[in-house]
Amino acid sequence: MIFITGGAGFIGSHTCLELLNAGFSVTVFDNFCNSQPEALVRVQQITHKELTVVRGDIRDRFSLEAALRKSGARAVIHFAGLKAVGESVQLPLSYYDNNVTGTLCLLQSMQSCQIKTLVFSSSATVYGNPQYLPLNEDHPLASTNPYGQTKLVIENMLRDLQRSDATWRIGILRYFNPVGAHASGLIGEDPQGIPNNLLPYVAQVAVGKREFLNIWGNDYDTPDGTGVRDYIHVVDLALGHLAAVNKLENQGQCFTVNLGTGIGYSVLDVVRAFEQASGKPITRQYSPRRAGDVASCYADPRHAQELLGWQAQRDLATMCQDAWRWQGKNPNGYSGH
Ligand code: NAD
Ligand code: UFG
Repeated sequence: MIFITGGAGFIGSHTCLELLNAGFSVTVFDNFCNSQPEALVRVQQITHKELTVVRGDIRDRFSLEAALRKSGARAVIHFAGLKAVGESVQLPLSYYDNNVTGTLCLLQSMQSCQIKTLVFSSSATVYGNPQYLPLNEDHPLASTNPYGQTKLVIENMLRDLQRSDATWRIGILRYFNPVGAHASGLIGEDPQGIPNNLLPYVAQVAVGKREFLNIWGNDYDTPDGTGVRDYIHVVDLALGHLAAVNKLENQGQCFTVNLGTGIGYSVLDVVRAFEQASGKPITRQYSPRRAGDVASCYADPRHAQELLGWQAQRDLATMCQDAWRWQGKNPNGYSGH
């Protein structure tokens, strides 16, 4: 049994699906502040398997510990948290509360239940402004916004915990840019309001929900002047969590790994790939750089490959085709069901 906080979200729902397919039992604990129960209904439809869903907030120590104990879990995958960089600048206390206090509650609950195996969702944001590329795990850590700070604080908390008690088995996964959707088109990313991220925005332009894409900057020091990122298919990312859980359970070693493809694509590369996948023109205009954005960011993914035997398989065309299938079938996300 694996206990999954934030399992109804974008990455969590895809991970639940792959865990169920691999024969794991799953309990999801989620307050649905940025997701809908329908995602988990669909996960069960696709897999023809059941999972347990508990509605609750990870900062509510009493409910969390009760659910964790009842689940009989042997490991936890911790996705729950807030993730919008811009919002974190406006609402830092909400971010520290949800992400840091929430994680503290989770660790205390796990300790009290004697469950000491954890996979944590970190982010490439902990590398700050890249000093060199590709980014390996030894790159100095820094942060440029409160969201990134919460990931750094949590990573440090986890390293301190492991140093204090070697029976903890902790895997820290630093994701690059998760995109795409399950190939069924039944689950995918369902952002509330205007999407911040590139792929969901492009998908909404293609489907006619938004008039045009603003490309934030075409004067970066990159091959075509637009920002370069390491986009990774969410199903590859989900499979990375399976590899991480298996590694922790079988070998009990702690690790920190990048989950990325190692390939950087520009905004224009993504726009063209999406046009190809959807057969729709993506109307766009150039706008000034977005505050806080870096020119380029992509992973050195070799450590994950060597340690976990995991490597991303799905290319940019597949990411765009799958995102388009999800968008086309669900123009209003889960709320249109
Ligand atoms: P998401 O918002 O889709 O999923 C997060 C889930 O956690 C949601 O279902 C939400 O309802 C739940 N949640 C939030 N606060 C909660 C709380 N206090 N108690 C219980 N449930 C709570 O986000 P995602 O894209 O699936 O991201 C999952 C994790 O991966 C997050 O920790 C995020 O910071 C991290 N991450 C995401 C990205 C990305 O670009 N998507 C990149 C790097 C890291
Ligand atoms: N972009 C546009 N127009 C848009 C949206 C994005 O041109 O409407 C550009 C950005 O300027 C950037 C690229 O597309 O060059 C990707 O932007 P995203 O917002 O999709 O992703 P980011 O790399 O900016 O942010 C992601 C996660 C953050 C995380 C960060 C660093 O969303 O949570 O990676 O790891 F902090």
